[in-house]
Amino acid sequence: MTHTSVSDCRLLELPRIERPQGNLTAVESGREIPFALARVYYFYDIPGGEGRGGHAHRQLEQVIVAVMGSFEVVLDDGSGRRSFRLDRAYHGLYVPPMIWRELEGFSSGGIGVVLASERYLEDDYIRDYDQFRVQKSGSSDG
Ligand code: TYD
Repeated sequence: MTHTSVSDCRLLELPRIERPQGNLTAVESGREIPFALARVYYFYDIPGGEGRGGHAHRQLEQVIVAVMGSFEVVLDDGSGRRSFRLDRAYHGLYVPPMIWRELEGFSSGGIGVVLASERYLEDDYIRDYDQFRVQKSGSSDG
């Protein structure tokens, strides 16, 4: 699935259960999340000025949520770019396979949760931007 574009990336409005004692968001595999969940991970304690990401995935789909604070996700499909500032625990950014992503502009104490369709597999990563571009342009030839 290499033909994905940044227009396939979208914000999912996740359910919010609001109570006087606070809010809660729950998601289920294949319901609010448009794939079967295989893994959850989170990032936190991001030093000021640091960024994350800088890679694409060959197969993996994911939904990224800023559960605390905010950060920017810059998406790139090799020909177009799109950027989302995530700042709500009930907004999930769906990212399909073969989209380059950079995460930056973290607010102090920002925490992100990622819901992923695959277990961790280093072979699924493309960590070189030029290689990513080559694979994307190859896909449009055939
Ligand atoms: P990486 O995905 O490169 O982080 P980011 O893109 O957010 O900067 O992962 C950082 C390190 O953590 C890398 O050595 C791989 C390891 N890692 C795991 O072992 N399991 C995982 O599920 C993830 C996401 C990363």
